[in-house]
Amino acid sequence: MRIEVLTLFPKMFEGFLKESIMGRAIKNGLIEVNLIDFRDFSKNKHKKVDDSPYGGGAGMVLGVQSIYDALISIEGYEKANKILLTPQGKKYEQEMAYKLSHKKHLIIMCGHYEGYDERIRDLFDCEVSIGDFVLTGGEIAAMALIDSVTRVVPGVINKDESHLNDSFSNNLLEHPHYTRPREFMGKKVPEVLMSGNHKKIKEWRLSESINKTKERREDLYMKYLKEQNNE
Ligand code: 6GU
Repeated sequence: MRIEVLTLFPKMFEGFLKESIMGRAIKNGLIEVNLIDFRDFSKNKHKKVDDSPYGGGAGMVLGVQSIYDALISIEGYEKANKILLTPQGKKYEQEMAYKLSHKKHLIIMCGHYEGYDERIRDLFDCEVSIGDFVLTGGEIAAMALIDSVTRVVPGVINKDESHLNDSFSNNLLEHPHYTRPREFMGKKVPEVLMSGNHKKIKEWRLSESINKTKERREDLYMKYLKEQNNE
């Protein structure tokens, strides 16, 4: 998969793209990420990319020119999946990570300042937000999106595709996990996990998942029940 990121702050991505699973996916050629600083495409003599809003008001607005020119400089941009990051977008969820993981080419736009000139929106296929809170810019949202897509690209995490049991893949939060020691400050690992009885362990894990989801995330629990009834 090829991913281009349009950003005014490409350096923010340096560590993210080198470390851990992302770093390995890139090294192995499963993912290619190109950072494009759209300031380089500004035709303004001071390389400005924003301006004050027509009609007045506080803050600055990102203009369309440099973003359009950066976008059309990307090979194959017409066919790519073009995503605009904005707190006004559709809420990003695991299901979209799975859908995007099958695409060949993503272009991700990171915004800043008060917002986008409305005509920028027409250049993109969809608008996405990573949650109901406001970030100073789209870069952290872009990293969250790229990370969550990359880890479900086939071959990236290959331990029998361990992400298939993730929280959200079945609308349930994950069950508790334990590792050594068997006892820590008086807290013991549940007996069932030491029993070697795989059927019992599976039942225990499912029941813990269901209880945790019911307690913390009624919205997900309702989705889970609905899907159980459809099957
Ligand atoms: Cl995509 N951008 C910004 N600036 N803030 C956000 C967001 C995106 N998603 C949630 N908050």
